[in-house]
Amino acid sequence: MPPFTQALLAWYAQHGRKGLPWQVQDTWYTRLLSEVMLQQTQVKTVIPYFERFIEAYPTPEALARASDDDVMALWQGLGYYARARNLLKAVRAIVFDREGVCPTTAVDWATLPGIGLSTGGAIAAFSFKDRAVMADGNAKRVIARAFAIEGYTGERRFEKAVWEKAETLLPEAEAMPAYTQALMDMGALVCKRRPLCDVCPLATQCQAHVQGRETDIPAPKPKKTRPVRYAKLVFYFTQTGLFLKKKTEKKGVWQDLFLPPMVESEDAKVCEGWMPPLPEEALIGNPIRLTPHPHDFSHYRLMMNVEAHEVRPETELEGFDFVPFSGLDKVALPAPVALLWRDVERVLNAYWA
Ligand code: ADE
Repeated sequence: MPPFTQALLAWYAQHGRKGLPWQVQDTWYTRLLSEVMLQQTQVKTVIPYFERFIEAYPTPEALARASDDDVMALWQGLGYYARARNLLKAVRAIVFDREGVCPTTAVDWATLPGIGLSTGGAIAAFSFKDRAVMADGNAKRVIARAFAIEGYTGERRFEKAVWEKAETLLPEAEAMPAYTQALMDMGALVCKRRPLCDVCPLATQCQAHVQGRETDIPAPKPKKTRPVRYAKLVFYFTQTGLFLKKKTEKKGVWQDLFLPPMVESEDAKVCEGWMPPLPEEALIGNPIRLTPHPHDFSHYRLMMNVEAHEVRPETELEGFDFVPFSGLDKVALPAPVALLWRDVERVLNAYWA
């Protein structure tokens, strides 16, 4: 066994995490659910969501038969909703197309929607002891430092070098679950962005540490400036609820999520004066205007301008549903839009108090 692997397994036996909910209730289904939730999201954020999901959908069959809207609502706040859509597709593929028989190798898991080789590697290693590479962000940082691999996350030569190194470090099948978790835990608990080399069992063999370069590896990603687009969102609300509509167009961001009336354009002027059509007499009082708020997607920055208008109780808004405040937690809003509505509420509470 490579010295790296040996040291990591010994450390894990003593210091690794053992009581995470998906380790306690350990099936391919809990592993699929948790690994998808843990993509880009921290353990402490995921745990309550994981527990609510397992309670609502204790089996893959239950999740496969769930309505998309209920699942999206339960995912609300976890972000990256494409994960929830793909999770549903993957579970349905297993339950309905594969007669409930799940894949057992990373390569086969990775044929399902939303599951790459790394997530597939984690699930297959945990549930089937597949000798597969798991290389999430934490694992890549650990391996890059231990072997002083040059480059930055996402860069082709870096990804290739880390993956090839990772393949040479795998233990025998029996140790794959512990080893995979060990790599995750080392990255999360010791080899953090600001590493704790004093307590690290790999310090003496870590090339980055030996060279005093542990905080320079991996290198920072070169910054690219994002194009800016503009949006105007108008919250029409009464004392009891507000108007929202599920975005059904299959293009752009925020598919299947609930949104207030909005326009989006690369031209700020298009957004400036825009208002969704409502008769003048439906409006009550003065609008609330929030300071323009940026939200960064991977491919562009969206500058969101927000107005909120109180409307008369009997008002109808064509194409939109009236969602009572009491039902707001049952519909999925994009996280940045939910935050903006919370800002509006704060202003309102000051008024209505
Ligand atoms: N990050 C991704 N998968 C994880 C897991 N199974 N345990 C802890 N952190 C993780």
